[in-house]
Amino acid sequence: MRNYILHDEWKIIEKGFHPEENRIYESFMSLGNGYMGMRGNFEEDFSGDSLQGSYIAGVYYPDKTRVGWWKNGYPEYFAKVLNSVNYIGIRVKLNGENLDIAKLKEAKDFSRVLNMRDGSLERSFVAVSNDGKETKVEIKRFISLKDKEIAAISYSVTPLNYDGKIEFTPYLDGNIVNEDSNYDEVFWNEVSQKSTPFYGEVTMQTKKTNYYVTAAMSYDVLLDGNNANVTPEISERSKYAENTVSVTTSKNSTATLYKYVGVASNRYYEEELVIAKAYDAVERAKNAGFDKLFAEHSTKWHDHWNESDIVIKGDVAAQQGIRFNIFHMTATYTGEDSRLNIGPKGFTGEKYGGSTYWDTEAYCIPFYLSTADEKIARQLLIYRYNQLDKAKENAAKLGLKGALYPMVTMTGEECHNEWEITFEEIHRNAAIPYGIFNYVRYTGDKKYLAEYGFDVILETARFWVSRSNYVPQKDKYMILGVTGPNEYENNVNNNWYTNTMAAWNISYALETYDFLKENYPAELKALVEKLGIADAELAEMKEVSSKMYYPMIEELGVFSQQDNYMDKEQILVKDLDPSNLPLNQKWSWDRILRSCFIKQADVLQGIFFLSDRYDLETKKKNFEFYEPRTVHESSLSPCVHSIIAAEIGNTEKAYEMYLRTSRLDLDNYNNDTDDGLHITSMAGTWMSIVYGFGGMKIKDDMLHFSPFIPEVWDEYSFKVMFRGNLLNITVNKENIIINQEKGSNLIIKVNNKEYELNGSTITI
Ligand code: BGC
Repeated sequence: MRNYILHDEWKIIEKGFHPEENRIYESFMSLGNGYMGMRGNFEEDFSGDSLQGSYIAGVYYPDKTRVGWWKNGYPEYFAKVLNSVNYIGIRVKLNGENLDIAKLKEAKDFSRVLNMRDGSLERSFVAVSNDGKETKVEIKRFISLKDKEIAAISYSVTPLNYDGKIEFTPYLDGNIVNEDSNYDEVFWNEVSQKSTPFYGEVTMQTKKTNYYVTAAMSYDVLLDGNNANVTPEISERSKYAENTVSVTTSKNSTATLYKYVGVASNRYYEEELVIAKAYDAVERAKNAGFDKLFAEHSTKWHDHWNESDIVIKGDVAAQQGIRFNIFHMTATYTGEDSRLNIGPKGFTGEKYGGSTYWDTEAYCIPFYLSTADEKIARQLLIYRYNQLDKAKENAAKLGLKGALYPMVTMTGEECHNEWEITFEEIHRNAAIPYGIFNYVRYTGDKKYLAEYGFDVILETARFWVSRSNYVPQKDKYMILGVTGPNEYENNVNNNWYTNTMAAWNISYALETYDFLKENYPAELKALVEKLGIADAELAEMKEVSSKMYYPMIEELGVFSQQDNYMDKEQILVKDLDPSNLPLNQKWSWDRILRSCFIKQADVLQGIFFLSDRYDLETKKKNFEFYEPRTVHESSLSPCVHSIIAAEIGNTEKAYEMYLRTSRLDLDNYNNDTDDGLHITSMAGTWMSIVYGFGGMKIKDDMLHFSPFIPEVWDEYSFKVMFRGNLLNITVNKENIIINQEKGSNLIIKVNNKEYELNGSTITI
């Protein structure tokens, strides 16, 4: 495996510039604060290869669908998260020569460093020009985790072997495009732009969706730490604002530009206030100054690490991997706004359109439940609750009852237009109530069921009832023509995972009904009226869930992925010549579909979700059958395998799969990190340590742990928040130490034995 970066516990370090891999490094070095984010692009001009990316959460464009052969029911658009105003730009001239790393004789001692502890990106190099001038350049930037509308950059230049004139042009540029635009359309129109001495503003509006976004800027210029008394020159052009200032320096004197940016949008303010709000943010930033802003921002990050860190001793690569995952999960979603969700690439690239997938419920919710206040995860549930009407429309479009949540969405409408996914990958519908189940099980907030949960659980269950068909010869209900989580086979009948989760969804609706009847009778009465539930419907639900059909491979005693899985030629991945991998880049799609190779956890995904139902022997048999046939070509795959491997005692495999998930992007396993990072699978990595190695489960309102430690580690510890408690669990070769950092009177189980915590530390 190629080492792109140096191993370090808290930093992602690129040493020496790698122009041919710049996009990969830009992805690694992305920053975000839940409200906005950006790739690790350069501030100064760069004529080499780069994917420019600066994104504002929730600001999207409904790009007209592009498809070869239109099928009825396809959505009209594919939502795209938008590359938006480039606000990091600072053009730099050194004695009249434009600084562009691609054109230098050398960028000596280049380093680009993501500091995960503080949430900052730092870059430094000595620019050696073709005529031998050497200039030290040092840059640091961050997007404030404290004041979400603010970004700040410190840009310092020190001539090392000459006296001269340094020119800085801080600018805002709305002339931006998305690389993935379907018709090379420009998604933004200009509303206004303005440059005045020391200030600039660019306001842009998205076509169709009418998001109105202002980026405003100001700056200070210092020479060796003192005000440089510069006189700005102003220049304006369409969608663009800039100021140019120059400073005369002598050898070894440092000129520094502090750029302060404020970003505001009509997602949070009335349109007519947006410009003023962006300027307000700039003023707040400028008044505080770079150092104070940074101190406040990094304190927020430190607080966050205090509640969510995982420490691994004896394995720096694994330590770096897990922190990288936690860092980017936090940078992507902070849960203040229930209209936002978690795009599979977060703020790190365009792919997947920044839209919401089942990844949120299947992978991300457990992470936020344990590492942040429970209201953060609740926002993700509310997001789906608010989209229930659209999900009902979506089911109706397919001629079905109840609600079908989309596979890919921004507003609740389906955005995906491949028939095998849009129409067939319906398993996602059960993940939505599963998210509720997980939330309620973890937090104990059962009232949520009466307030919001039941509507979603019932309508998704209704969909499954109408999508199943009765087969009298077998006296069973079947679900035909689907794609399971394994996207490497389509239009299969009775995908075990889909049938299992469908029946689970229906049963959960019935259970919740009974629970509400007992505990919230008045609320249930209102719900029954609102949702129009009749006794006959409940009886039908019972009938379908109890008579669901589950294909088995009888001779092996394992669940069959789908009716015809065993009709396929059975080959194991280890027997494939490695030159065939990854299949999705080497084989025709037809060949993939005919093969037995599995993209990602499918049967095993169901076993993971409904873990309490299956005994160890069943888990073992299914794991041993399916894992050797799985190519893990979805980033979501290794983590589930790691967790089950840990549970069945295959600790070596658990560790192998863990490494693959935790360093998936850092080691570019899937050869696609240039597109952006796999944000949603990062939550899975976290689960592989906490659920896998730590053996954490929530059963009977109680936290359970059954930890093991991978052989190569000396010790690891992780933190979990649970119902007002903060626990730090440390596992080493001799002991398990549980320290209750917050809370009291908590009973937990470790290896099935009860322990009481009272603000105390226990050593087992
Ligand atoms: C996976 C899906 C996932 C999507 C977005 C696909 O490659 O097969 O399960 O939802 O990526 O992460």
